[in-house]
Amino acid sequence: MDKKTFYITTPIYYPSDKLHIGHCYCTVATDAIARYKRLRGYDVMFLTGTDEHGQKIEERAKAAGVTPQQFVDNIVTGEHGVLDLWKLMNISNDRFIRTTDDYHMESVQKIFRKMYEKGDIYKGAYKGKYCTPCESFWTESQLVDGKCPDCGREVHDAEEEAYFFRLSKYAKPVQELLESGDFLEPASRVNEMVNNFIKPGLEDLCVSRTSFKWGIPVDFDPGHVVYVWVDALFNYCTALGFLNDKYHDYDKYWPADVHIVGKEIVRFHSIIWPAMLMSMELPLPKKVYGHGWLVIDGGKMSKSKGNVVDPYLLAEKFGVDALRFFLLRSFPFGSDGNFSNELLISTINTDLANDLGNLVSRTTAMAEKYFGGTLPEARESDLIDNELIAMIRETADRYAEQMDKFQLHLGLEEVFKLIQRANKYIDETAPWVLARDEAKKPRLATVLYNLLEALRVSLTMLTPFMPESCEKAFAQIGADAAARSWDKAGEYGVLPANISVRKGETLFPRIDMAKALEELEAMHKPACPQVKIEPVLPDVTIDDFAKCDMRVCKVLACENVKKSEKLLKFTLDDGSGTERQILSGIAKFYKPEELVGKTVVAILNLPPRKMMGQMSNGMLLSAVREVDGKEELKLLMLDDSVPAGSRLC
Ligand code: ME8
Repeated sequence: MDKKTFYITTPIYYPSDKLHIGHCYCTVATDAIARYKRLRGYDVMFLTGTDEHGQKIEERAKAAGVTPQQFVDNIVTGEHGVLDLWKLMNISNDRFIRTTDDYHMESVQKIFRKMYEKGDIYKGAYKGKYCTPCESFWTESQLVDGKCPDCGREVHDAEEEAYFFRLSKYAKPVQELLESGDFLEPASRVNEMVNNFIKPGLEDLCVSRTSFKWGIPVDFDPGHVVYVWVDALFNYCTALGFLNDKYHDYDKYWPADVHIVGKEIVRFHSIIWPAMLMSMELPLPKKVYGHGWLVIDGGKMSKSKGNVVDPYLLAEKFGVDALRFFLLRSFPFGSDGNFSNELLISTINTDLANDLGNLVSRTTAMAEKYFGGTLPEARESDLIDNELIAMIRETADRYAEQMDKFQLHLGLEEVFKLIQRANKYIDETAPWVLARDEAKKPRLATVLYNLLEALRVSLTMLTPFMPESCEKAFAQIGADAAARSWDKAGEYGVLPANISVRKGETLFPRIDMAKALEELEAMHKPACPQVKIEPVLPDVTIDDFAKCDMRVCKVLACENVKKSEKLLKFTLDDGSGTERQILSGIAKFYKPEELVGKTVVAILNLPPRKMMGQMSNGMLLSAVREVDGKEELKLLMLDDSVPAGSRLC
């Protein structure tokens, strides 16, 4: 019989910046679920990828002086890029889609055309509030304090000719979908969607743009590019070969069993996505699971806030498995989790070094010390064993119940109850006391065997979370492939009676908290500030340049312009014998009194301009750059020995 399939996806990531530990959270969780399903015998398709179009990418590329394709290639395939990161984190995805892949672009064009021909996409004009970083249009009522409800940043008025998707037509069936059954989880997110988005009235969705170029062209109206979310959401189908010849897995895997997504994109996945699938008359995904965020001091990690945590650094310091484990053990998957280095280190020390690490090292060390690594077959049971044996038999079911609901932290909780029980069993049975009496060797062998069995089932259940460490630990306890399988995870007595073990390397060394925190602090200090590089402008001729009359001026007087926070008013000696007045928007950077007597440079032959009721006859030159997202400005000043009126050439 064919294996049951399981299709699971992560969101596809924006390669606008390097990814941080928050991005890893989602992918590591999805990876653990995919590995768990494989362990359970499913034929798994695990898809991830990158979402590479849109205005933000176009702007970032321009600022970096490269093409958008070069820009995304660098973040996706370059050193420490997305592909490197997933390799580092041991992500077992079966497929990786880039929305700039030809096959995807072709499919999206066909999809857009289909919805247009059906009448679900029509042409109109869009007016709204647009958040560039989120690539989202918002209505006035959706704004929070006048800002983007997702990221809290400024929005601006935008208007353009655009195509619209008849989202309003699907409001009712989408609401029914959300309210019946368990399409969207955790259930708390259902009310949020229905009350905040559907009940106030679903408006048709603007699904094309003309104001920038970096996107998939609408093939029947090439001035338009397809809205990035339409492009992105359909990746889940195109990556299987929907309307393209690149792959042929659509019939096998669609509909998806679950889309794992962060909470801020639940709206796109649970309202817009099903509506578009309904329009395409395609089966709907079985579930959307909206996980919480990793936050720092209550706020989402983001590059612009400067609080991102570098996964490379943490993986190098603590190991990939420890990092993967920490992410999934410490926070309930559906809620936000406050990241801190202290929590990371204490989780590693408590669960991995103490509980799991000690159980492995004590058990294998005692088997070596008392029996040269191979247990004798002669055994002697005791009533005290029964509780542990019952847990060995029952934990897998309890773990599976939680894992099937994507309650990963609770699945781990069940495993650690067993591990803690096994450690307690060592204290209760005191093998070192049994070892002193030759007659008690059969009893000692039984105790060690029970411990090995507890370890065996625990490692099977931990494998999806820490594949490499579990592999090493399995080798230490001498478990072969059959003994590691899920089928045996609920059984006792699977390891051979005369099992051979060998103590290996310490899997999770204890970390000195104070020392590690100090080292991390030093490593986190940015080596150099992030300076925005402005591309060099197109060439001008020497004659064009010579038309700018730039002169050295002395500042005779300087004062703030009334009612303006920005402007300073300069009275200048430009060498002509007549005083010149120039206004400059640099009040944020200088106090007027600091500038009196300074030797500055001005362009004199700009047309006069009136600002805040005052005339400005020219412009002062400054040196500007953007560092860590903030503008820096220095007024150009020369040596005082340079006379007023000297020309710059
Ligand atoms: O949203 N904690 O891409 P993205 C937890 N391209 N999860 C976080 C996080 C944090 N601090 N920061 C980011 C997009 N994420 C779209 C998806 S799907 C068709 C298109 C999660 O790179 C975030 O919640 O901004 C999202 O699920 C994922 O990383 C990708 O975010």
